[in-house]
Amino acid sequence: MKLFDVYPINPINIVKGVGSLVYDDKGQEYLDLYGGHAVISIGHTNTHYVKRLENQLHQIGFYSNSIEIPLQKELAEKLGRVSGKEDYQLFLVNSGAEANENALKLASFYNGKKKVIAFTGAFHGRTSLAVAVTDNPKIVAPVNETDNVIFVPWKDEAALEQTFVDNEISSVIIEGIQGVGGIQVAPESFLQKIRSLCDTHNAVFIADGIQCGYGRTGKFYSHDFAGINADIYTMAKGMGNGFPIGAISISPKIQPAYGMLGTTFGGNHLACAAALAVLEVMEQDNLLQNAATVGAYLIDELKKFKQVKEVRGRGLMIGIELPAEYAHAKKDLLFKHHIFTGEAKPNVIRLLPALNLTKAHADQFLEAFTTVINK
Ligand SMILES: Cc1ncc(COP(=O)(O)O)c(C=O)c1O
Repeated sequence: MKLFDVYPINPINIVKGVGSLVYDDKGQEYLDLYGGHAVISIGHTNTHYVKRLENQLHQIGFYSNSIEIPLQKELAEKLGRVSGKEDYQLFLVNSGAEANENALKLASFYNGKKKVIAFTGAFHGRTSLAVAVTDNPKIVAPVNETDNVIFVPWKDEAALEQTFVDNEISSVIIEGIQGVGGIQVAPESFLQKIRSLCDTHNAVFIADGIQCGYGRTGKFYSHDFAGINADIYTMAKGMGNGFPIGAISISPKIQPAYGMLGTTFGGNHLACAAALAVLEVMEQDNLLQNAATVGAYLIDELKKFKQVKEVRGRGLMIGIELPAEYAHAKKDLLFKHHIFTGEAKPNVIRLLPALNLTKAHADQFLEAFTTVINK
C-alpha cells in the first residue's frame, strides 16, 4: 500500500525535537517557528509533559465514556480556571474540525435554528459542517454544500446586521484571528457587534480558538481582547502539544442531555493527561506572559523592515506580508537558514512557535530574516 498523496511536503525527515529546536535524520538542527501548524505549545518533548504521559500510559491509556474518568473533571476544572470561564462546561473531542462540528450542531440543538453565519477568509476544518463554513470552495465536496451557511464579508458590520434581519440565524462562527486566511485580526468592535446581535436574535456566538486560542496571543482566547464572552469556544492544536485532543467550552445557558453529543476517543485518559500537562506547564512557566512579551518584541522588530508590506497578529501568532518579489523568503528561511515557518496565500509568512519561545531564538530568526530580505 502507498500513501494517499494529498500533502505537498518538504523533503525533510524530523526525528527529534527539544523545545523550539528540531533535528532531521542527518543531525541538522532547525529552529521551529511553526510548531507543526501551531500545535507545539510548550515545546517539543517537554520533560514534565513526557513524564506525565509516560506515567499515565503505565496506569491506563484508554477507556471510553461509559465509566468515570476523573482526569476529565480535573481538566475541566483547570481549563475553566486558566481560561477564566469557570462556569462553562467542557466537552472533549479529538481535533479542531470535530470541535467546530459539535459546536455548530450544539448551537442548532439549542435554538432549533439552521442558518450559520461564517466570514470570508475563514478556515474551520474539513469535516462536513466545518468545511461548509470554510471559505474555500476547492475543499468543499458537493456532498458538503449546503444552503444553511451564509458568508458575510470579513469585518462588514452593516452586512452582518442585514443578514440577521433577513434570516433566522442559529449561530455565528468566527476566528479571533484568521489563521489560514492570512493572520487577520478581528476588530474588537466587530466581535462586540456579533455578541450584541447574537443576544438580540437568540443566536449562538461560536469563537473558533483552534489556532488563535490557548494562550497564543497572550490572552487565553484571542476573542478576550474584545471584552466579551462567546457562548461556545472551540479549541484543539496547542491543547495537547501534539497529542490529538480538542474540546468545546460551553456557556452554562446551554444545557446538556444524554446522547446529545458523543465520541469514542474524546476525553480518554492519555489525552487528558497530555492536556493537563500542557496547562500545568503553561501556568508554571507563565507562558501567556512570555507569548505576549516575545510576540510584541518580534512584531515591533519586524515592523522596522521597510521591505515588509504589513505585520499583523498578536502575541506569537504573527503574519508577515511580503511583496511578490520576496516569494522565495519562506523556502530560503527553511533551506538556507534552517528555520521552519508557515505561510498563507498569497505571500504571508506565518509564525506560530511554541509559547515558550526565547528572545534569543526570536533574534536568531530576525537575523536570518534580515539576510533573506536583503538578498
Ligand atoms: C481556525 C481553525 N479552525 C479549525 C481547524 C481544524 O482543525 P483540525 O485540523 O484539527 O481539524 C484549523 C486547522 O488549521 C484552524 O486553523
